[in-house]
Amino acid sequence: MQIKINERLKEVANLITENSSVMDIGCDHAFLDIYLAQNKKMKKIIASDNKEGPLKQAKENIKKYQVEDRIILKLGNGIEPIEEDIDTIIISGMGGFNIIGILKYQKERYRKVKTLILSPNHDTKEVRKEIVKLGFYIEEEKLIKENKNIYPILRFQRGKKKYHYEEYLYGPILMKRKDSLLLEYLQKEKEWKERLLSVLPKKYFFRRLELKKELKVISKVLSFSFK
Ligand SMILES: C[S@@+](CC[C@H](N)C(=O)[O-])C[C@H]1O[C@@H](n2cnc3c(N)ncnc32)[C@H](O)[C@@H]1O
Repeated sequence: MQIKINERLKEVANLITENSSVMDIGCDHAFLDIYLAQNKKMKKIIASDNKEGPLKQAKENIKKYQVEDRIILKLGNGIEPIEEDIDTIIISGMGGFNIIGILKYQKERYRKVKTLILSPNHDTKEVRKEIVKLGFYIEEEKLIKENKNIYPILRFQRGKKKYHYEEYLYGPILMKRKDSLLLEYLQKEKEWKERLLSVLPKKYFFRRLELKKELKVISKVLSFSFK
């Protein structure tokens, strides 16, 4: 039986190179890993989570779709359960600061990993900025719309590149490509930030300042990039 997965996970899978050895941190139900096992040629798939509950569910799903021989399930926090030959780390569906924490504070453990595929639920600007600081550059970016929300999926490779503030905020590749969803994403962000600024008390001086800066950048990106 073939597994059906949502568009976001499908796009994550599309960004994974065949014949790579991947570790999916925070696999939860392991839908992505089952899809990979069924649809892509992979050298190794480790599906890990730091909680027993999701892993139990993952084990049942893996059995149901008969891919027990293709997925290694591991319990552990973040990078901890990694194996020597893993070349790609996937972290999807977590908050940006959780993703940053995992990659920043366990960086010695994944020196051999060349590729990171990350899909944060929010705080994408911080994810881009902090992962670049760890010695990666942004190789590919996608936006996926699901249930009225728009999610980013980012692929990083080891290497160095410099970025401007607005590129951290909205993605160098998305901006260059004039991604059709980016326009919608920016318009939604603009409305949300304007609303927030109108109700945020004056005592939050620095947050207000940051919001004004971000709004200025959005207006600039909207007027220059989508003309
Ligand atoms: C919302 S689910 C995302 C599932 C799947 N990756 C996706 O994109 O649909 C997040 C999962 O990450 C796990 N998680 C959170 N922090 C973690 C950590 N530090 N190490 C490993 N797993 C973690 C949670 O237990 C949960 O199962």
